[in-house]
Order: sequence, then structure tokens, then C-alpha cells
Amino acid sequence: MKVLLIEFSGTGHTTICGNFIGEAFKELGHDVDHFTYKAGKDINPDYNLYDLVGFGYPIHAFNVPEAFNKYIKGLPTLKEKKKYFIYKVSGEPFALNNASSYHIYKKLKKKGFELYSEKHFLMPYNIMFRYRDSIAKQMYLYLKPLTKAFVLEMRDDKPERIKYRFGYKVVSFLLRIEWIAPKLNAPFIHIKQKKCVSCHKCIKECPTDALFINDKGKIRAKSSKCAMCMRCAMFCPTDAITYGFMNLWKVNKPFQFEALVKNKEVPPEYINHDTKGYFKLFNKYFDAQKALLEEYNIPNPVDSYLSK
Ligand SMILES: Cc1cc2nc3c(=O)[nH]c(=O)nc-3n(C[C@H](O)[C@H](O)[C@H](O)COP(=O)(O)O)c2cc1C
Repeated sequence: MKVLLIEFSGTGHTTICGNFIGEAFKELGHDVDHFTYKAGKDINPDYNLYDLVGFGYPIHAFNVPEAFNKYIKGLPTLKEKKKYFIYKVSGEPFALNNASSYHIYKKLKKKGFELYSEKHFLMPYNIMFRYRDSIAKQMYLYLKPLTKAFVLEMRDDKPERIKYRFGYKVVSFLLRIEWIAPKLNAPFIHIKQKKCVSCHKCIKECPTDALFINDKGKIRAKSSKCAMCMRCAMFCPTDAITYGFMNLWKVNKPFQFEALVKNKEVPPEYINHDTKGYFKLFNKYFDAQKALLEEYNIPNPVDSYLSK
């Protein structure tokens, strides 16, 4: 089978998820082509040549990032109907995120894509506040086995479906802050000249090509393009970016997931039934995922980690 994976990713978490999904398909002997959206880079595969397509995105305000929404809108209509699946990544597991894919679901349906399976994976927030390392480690450790289980479910023709309840559709519609928030915020994104080392990583790596050098030699963000994905702020090596009104929601420095795995001083689990407060609410997600792993005889990643 030929599988195509295409995702949008701001700070790389959805790409990691896509990589693991790709590996799981390859382990089953399938061919995989995998692309991460980048404005200006032509990603125009012939969808008709693939047996299965996967679309991935990070949830932004209970929605699909607008840049990816537009990309989907621009896809050609297929010659024949084609099955696809969705992998969505977000910081919290709550049902309010469930209808985030509804807008692309409707668009893809018109183009001949038939939704087959859909799964929501947890990875740390890249906005608002930084998850402690043990939470990031726990989410990352779970990601690989869960992507494997997701792929095995598809192999066994047991697709996962997420219900688009009316209330969630309303929330996702009303909170399409991406329509306005980046437009309002982008003009106020600026660089602290004293800290900037002119590496231009922010300009080069912006997935939507929103950053540019203006005629006064200053780095600025185009409000028509910024997706507010936080990549520039998170990846700036000197923390030189002031993120407009959203500056207090900036999460500095990318998570070094592999280093966290190697670091034995960071526990592999933070969220469990002894956890108190906000993260206690995440147990429902982890319980369901543990049951799924058991069903497929995939070792629990935290137990495996502790036994090494
Ligand atoms: C503008 C913005 C809005 C977000 N909104 C949500 C949200 O509604 N729900 C959620 O669980 N996470 C939300 N997140 C967190 C991301 O979905 C999460 O950090 C994800 O891991 C980022 O993936 P990426 O690295 O592929 O961009 C938001 C992040 C950003 C930047």
C-alpha cells in the first residue's frame, strides 16, 4: 500500500507524530511519502496515486491552523474517492477539541476524500505555559506506541472516529481566533536588537513565511501570513522575540524530547491517579490509551522505561 502523510506543524510536535506514524506503516511493509507544510514549498503530490492519505495538524484554539485550512481548500478534486485519516496533536485532551477537524472534514468530503479514522494525540503545550519536563517526557514516551496502535487499528479495519457534537462545532466555530488574533498580534511582534544575533532562524523556519526584514532592516511579521504557531519565539536561540500581545504566553526553548528520555533524573510519568489539580483531568485520556496498548499487546511505555 502507498501512504501519504501531510501535516502542518508549528513547533515540530505534529511532525514527530507524523514521523512515528510513517515508521509504523513502514514496519508493516508499506511505502510512505511524508511532507510537512511550508509556505512556498510545493507540496503537490498526485493524491490519486496513494491508497491512503493522512492529514496532521496541531490544534489551535479548538481548530485547524488557518494556513492548513487554506492548504486543504486548495487541494484538487480527486478522480476517485479516497480514504484518509487525521492525526491531531494538542496540549490537552478535552472533548472541546473534538470538532477541530470539522472544517477540513467538510472541505475534504467535497473533494472526494472519505474520513476513515481520526486520532487525537497529546504533546506539550507550546503556548501559555510550559509543561514540566516529566509531563513532556510522559507524552513523548506514549506517542510512539500510540501511533503504532493507531496504525494497527487501521490495518485491522477498526478505525477510530471522533464525534463532532453540535456544541463542540459551535465552540470551534466561535473560537476561530486564528481569523483575527494573528492579524491583530503580528504587527506587534518585534525583535530585541540587543539580544538578536541575526541568525535569521526565525525567518528561515517560519512555516508560513510570515517574517521578513523591512526597509529599515528590522524583522517584522506579516499579519496576513502569521499563524501564531509560536515557532519563531520558541526556537529563537537568544529569546530575542517579543511576541506582541501574546508575549506572556510565550514558551521559550523547544522541548528536547530525546534528551529527556536519556535523562534518568526526569521521571517518565507525572500524570496518574495520584495526580492532583488540573492534570488529574488527563487521566481519562491516559486510561483509554493504556487500554488500547494492552489490546494490541504493546508494552506500556512508562513500565518499559522503568524496567530498563
Ligand atoms: C495559537 C495556539 C492555539 C492553541 N490552542 C490549543 C487548543 O485549543 N487546545 C489544545 O489542547 N492545545 C492548543 N494549543 C497547543 C498546541 O496544540 C500544542 O502545543 C501542540 O503540541 C503544538 O504542535 P506543533 O509543535 O506541531 O505546532 C495551541 C497552540 C497555539 C500556538
